[in-house]
Amino acid sequence: MAQALRQPLPETGAEQDSTLVPPHGGSLVSRILSGDGAEAAREKARSLRRIPLDEVRLADVVCIATGVYSPLTGFLGEGAYRSVVEEMRLPDGTVWPLPITLPVPAALAAGLRDGEEVALAGPDGEPLGILRVEERYRPDREAEAVKVYGTADPAHPGVRRTLRQGEVYLAGPIWVWRLPPQPFPDLAMTPAEIRAAFRARGWCRVVAFQTRNPIHRAHEYITKVALEQVDGLFLNPLVGPTKEDDIPADVRVACYRVLLEHYYPAGRVLLAAFPAPMRYAGPREAIFHALCRKNYGASHFIVGRDHAGVGNYYGPYDAQRLFRRFRPEELGITPVFFDRAFWCRRCGGMATDKTCPHRDDDRVLLSGTQVRQMLREGQVPPPEFTRPEVAALLVAAVRKGATP
Ligand code: ADX
Repeated sequence: MAQALRQPLPETGAEQDSTLVPPHGGSLVSRILSGDGAEAAREKARSLRRIPLDEVRLADVVCIATGVYSPLTGFLGEGAYRSVVEEMRLPDGTVWPLPITLPVPAALAAGLRDGEEVALAGPDGEPLGILRVEERYRPDREAEAVKVYGTADPAHPGVRRTLRQGEVYLAGPIWVWRLPPQPFPDLAMTPAEIRAAFRARGWCRVVAFQTRNPIHRAHEYITKVALEQVDGLFLNPLVGPTKEDDIPADVRVACYRVLLEHYYPAGRVLLAAFPAPMRYAGPREAIFHALCRKNYGASHFIVGRDHAGVGNYYGPYDAQRLFRRFRPEELGITPVFFDRAFWCRRCGGMATDKTCPHRDDDRVLLSGTQVRQMLREGQVPPPEFTRPEVAALLVAAVRKGATP
């Protein structure tokens, strides 16, 4: 087994089909052991030192193991980390905009040897995987924040997390024999499973949509406009850790389900959970979100206004601009850009500045803060902003104290 653990796993999910876009880096990674390999690793882990995973790192382990982060097979070593932070590329030139790292307290790292295998412990404290610690290094976390998030302001949730996390990063390949329980089991599908589902439906051109919010009319509009041009819509809401004042995933998932039931043709949409943590890295995270959806087999990816943004740290179209810095073949997934969408009373429909000549006075433009305020006061946001079925769920959630 020791030998087995030293070998990369066979690419169980490797895609050979010509109908879907190839995974990022060429083949779909799977770091999930099964059968005797899993049994031997589980046995071995009992005698290894345990590294507890926080919720962010746990989500990253799920994404690495299932191939969402292909071509990554583990946590980044120092060379790759620097290259990603500085250049948005892995050392071989592959585009990769976010450092996926395993930070631990210095005292814990000091007790390890390079090459040592450690057990990765899940929320129950029990091992679920093994990391071979090939490197331990001390990053400049503030410099990382400035590069990745464009600011060192600790009020930014991604920066705050980066500055507070462990001082030493452990790096190396991982193997996993058990995934932690996923919050929405019927929506927990791996990239290999999603690719199979696309193939089963005969979809080649699939547009993916990332969201961490309940779907309002603007989201509905841009997903449907995009869907007009392709075979199917892959609605892939993020259900990993988010900041505290985001709407909880269970409320959002209820909203997605009701919206799909009433307003989308069932055969044209596939809903599945995106298990990654939210980083709020704006433009870099938009590229990252696109590459992960490419791994699921999506050929197109929607990038609207202030994608993955928070507060006023990023300009509304910075993410779209960043896509233009890469050659299309380096990304391998086509971004579909949208301007800010709104309901226009004079047009009598959804529109953007590209299609509507009227002024903001004629438009229903509600900020997130205004909507939260309305919900808190028990007011139902207008149908031009949110479908009534979605609004009812949000009002009920606020009444129960779940949000916002
Ligand atoms: S995000 O953090 O996942 O980007 P959100 O769920 O609000 O947040 O957005 C999902 C996608 O919809 C992103 O591509 C975002 O840019 C886009 N989007 C959100 N609101 C609008 C809007 N009013 N007009 C155009 N695009 C929008």
